[in-house]
Amino acid sequence: MNKPTQPSLPPYLNLDPKAAASRLPDPIGTQRFAKAAAFCAKGRDDLARRGYAPDGEKRLRRFSTWEITRYLIPVAPAHLRRVLKANPDLPQGEGEGGSKWFTLEEVLALRQYFANEGVSTKEYLPYRPEGLPAKVVSVANFKGGVGKTSTAAHLAMSAALDGYKVLVIDLDSQGSMTSILGGKVADEWQTVFPLIAKDYARAVQQENTVRVAADQPEILLDETLREALTTLPQDVIQKTHWPNIDLIGAQLNLYWAEFQIPVWRMGLRSWPLWDGLTNFLNDDGVLEEYDVIFLDTPPALGYLTINALAAADILLVPLGASFLEFDSTGRFFDMLYSTFASIEDGENAAQRAAGLPEMKFEWDVVRAIITRFDASQQTDMANVIQAYFGDFMNAYRQDYTALVGQAGEQVNGIYEADYREFNRETYVRGRETFDRTYAEFKELLIGCWWRDAQMEEQANG
Ligand SMILES: Nc1ncnc2c1ncn2[C@@H]1O[C@H](COP(=O)(O)OP(=O)(O)O)[C@@H](O)[C@H]1O
Ligand SMILES: [Mg+2]
Repeated sequence: MNKPTQPSLPPYLNLDPKAAASRLPDPIGTQRFAKAAAFCAKGRDDLARRGYAPDGEKRLRRFSTWEITRYLIPVAPAHLRRVLKANPDLPQGEGEGGSKWFTLEEVLALRQYFANEGVSTKEYLPYRPEGLPAKVVSVANFKGGVGKTSTAAHLAMSAALDGYKVLVIDLDSQGSMTSILGGKVADEWQTVFPLIAKDYARAVQQENTVRVAADQPEILLDETLREALTTLPQDVIQKTHWPNIDLIGAQLNLYWAEFQIPVWRMGLRSWPLWDGLTNFLNDDGVLEEYDVIFLDTPPALGYLTINALAAADILLVPLGASFLEFDSTGRFFDMLYSTFASIEDGENAAQRAAGLPEMKFEWDVVRAIITRFDASQQTDMANVIQAYFGDFMNAYRQDYTALVGQAGEQVNGIYEADYREFNRETYVRGRETFDRTYAEFKELLIGCWWRDAQMEEQANG
């Protein structure tokens, strides 16, 4: 018979304080962080040299005949081949034999050709009412890691593949979205910072004309603000490796805006500090230039997020199907309520005093989206969450898929990945997850546009 072995103690008992102290380093001063940062920067360079990190120059892969005819342009492969043969001026693709590979520019040109020449009952170009502005979509939740950036990036890419012209604005100073899109941001002047500074500086200029007329001292504009006044969209908007996705990037210095914005507001109490981004999109022609504008936000309800929410037509709130994420999302909605209600109250008191009409914030549609969903473990929880959110929640639950973040360093997410690197079945399932997320989003988008177009029509008699 075996003697039962002595059960070993759990690892956290019988620890010796003196030995523990002897293993501690000296107390840490501020400087030590600089050293850690320098080591990380060096490590990053080493990894980049060994091919673990992007070299900064992202290139979008090509798209095959299979993928084009299955996902991008609703034509049969044989028909596409016939059309290409009959039209040598059209892009012919690269590669030997049956499957040809096309750049996205070429796919867009082919799609335009079919839209002009093809069967009129098929949807070659996505719905976009003429003359109406772009729709602004903010993806927000003050919890981190819920899938904001992944959702925003995948939606931006699927909208681009679908033929929309997309602008992505990264408001998170961590810059994850900027890395995904291969953006280069030297300092805060290539982020939204100068756009919000410009809005403040303009408000100050207006105030100063009033003050001059009343013989009061003017508010001084410092050098930063004077420079911001000259900022144009093209100073901050950059091209990406996607022909129809542009970017306003972010980097660490953008975080400074969270400190600067309230200071500006103290200098001029009447400056609406939530409106800078909205004003930029409206006044500088950006809404005319694009179809859809995606705003990725930091995990906080700070001033940048408030700007993003105020600018949004469509608000998407990703969350995982867990108690903690549900609970924190509930608090996020509570904070949205108190933040925007208090702005409305404050503004409207002033508006009423001045005999002006009242303002209110309004969103076309707000939707919570379940992300990273594991049907085998989370179905009950998701059903409960759905019952509480009701029509505030999307019907489709975005599955957890190992393809996200696994595709390699040059590539981010399912749309940039080359399907040949995966088991076909795995690819099709992973892709369907994000295609269905996009499909449900697109219904919201085109529904909002259609509603706007109807209202426009009625207003014009
Ligand atoms: N559908 C998904 N399947 C698997 N992993 C996902 C999915 N969506 C997001 N992730 C992963 O979850 C993590 C957090 O996502 P991220 O989009 O960065 O969240 P946030 O922007 O809210 O902080 C990332 O590592 C991302 O790759
Ligand atoms: Mg993020």
